[in-house]
Amino acid sequence: MRILAIETSCDETALSVVRFDGDTLAIEAEEVASQIALHRPYGGVVPNIAKREHEKNLPILFERIFNPRGRYDDVDAVAVTVGPGLDPALWMGIQFAEHVHRELFPRAKLVGANHLEGHLYSFLLSEKAANPKSKFQISNEGIFPAIHLLVSGGHTMLVLMKNMKERAVLGETRDDAVGEAFDKVARLLGLPYPGGPEIERLAYESRNGTMVFPEPMVHSGDYDFSYSGLKTAVLYYLREHPEADKATVARAFQDAAFAPLVSKVRRAAEEYNVRTVMLSGGVAANRALREKLRALGYPFLVAPLKYNTDNATMIAVAAFMNLQTGTSYELNSQPNLSL
Ligand code: KG4
Ligand code: ZN
Repeated sequence: MRILAIETSCDETALSVVRFDGDTLAIEAEEVASQIALHRPYGGVVPNIAKREHEKNLPILFERIFNPRGRYDDVDAVAVTVGPGLDPALWMGIQFAEHVHRELFPRAKLVGANHLEGHLYSFLLSEKAANPKSKFQISNEGIFPAIHLLVSGGHTMLVLMKNMKERAVLGETRDDAVGEAFDKVARLLGLPYPGGPEIERLAYESRNGTMVFPEPMVHSGDYDFSYSGLKTAVLYYLREHPEADKATVARAFQDAAFAPLVSKVRRAAEEYNVRTVMLSGGVAANRALREKLRALGYPFLVAPLKYNTDNATMIAVAAFMNLQTGTSYELNSQPNLSL
């Protein structure tokens, strides 16, 4: 089965064609157009700019994939992200999917996909960056149960994956997502958007442990998270210490932000006797977080960076899983869709 997947939920326009054959998958084409530079002056993603850019980029990426071949055959399914995400951005992807389905692939299935399931299944794309045409195993019986930490600009979720189909959300953030906290604290420090990479870079420059912020929710006894208090603690600290060393503050913030993630992954891994720890989402780009999770001692799965930032290959994988299990999502924009 060959799937054309379309992702426009936030500020990346992405298209991929992935072939699924028995127990393996092969990435035939993948294109991403990032809008980060356009949103940077505003300090965050502006929905209407995102919509305009998706509208402009979708046909360009589509032609890049299909036109060199001069033919449009052979797609068994067109999959498009229907949520969660920005409403006008999601609609652009859905309309484009409907258009190419109608005009070029009328015999293909047209299916909605859940962006969070894309991140969740991105572990299937781990260790494979070097050769995107190589084949991947997708049965993976030996790795479950697994504890999966999904951390992005919009989500912070701890998920127990019982197998490829069954899962339970153990906890999530009660307010800001961890990536959002990085973006907000970066702004307080006068750093550009997106703040995650900037804070990580600064944190590496600092000497270890010279100041600390309270670690939020570490002892809450559940699997939830909260980041608005930590952000406020940084705000007050910077007000009282306007001359503070930014690298030291970045390091203290990053350590405090990751402490509850790592301690709750450890506790859940013990409680559910898991075989694997998995990480996904944009914050998975952070090397310190990956190292702390790897140090827990479980087999650790994380996809290469390009499959943790928003991309359409993970959407193709999520759509394939849903076609296998008979799960379907309506072709309406669903900005608050969950797992
Ligand atoms: O998954 P993603 O690309 O988009 C969403 O679906 O939200 O995640 C983007 C988020 C941003 O908040 C960004 O600051 C954060 O991931 N991020 C990082 C790092 N790189 C990106 N956070 C911490 N450290 C990083 N190196
Ligand atoms: Zn995402």
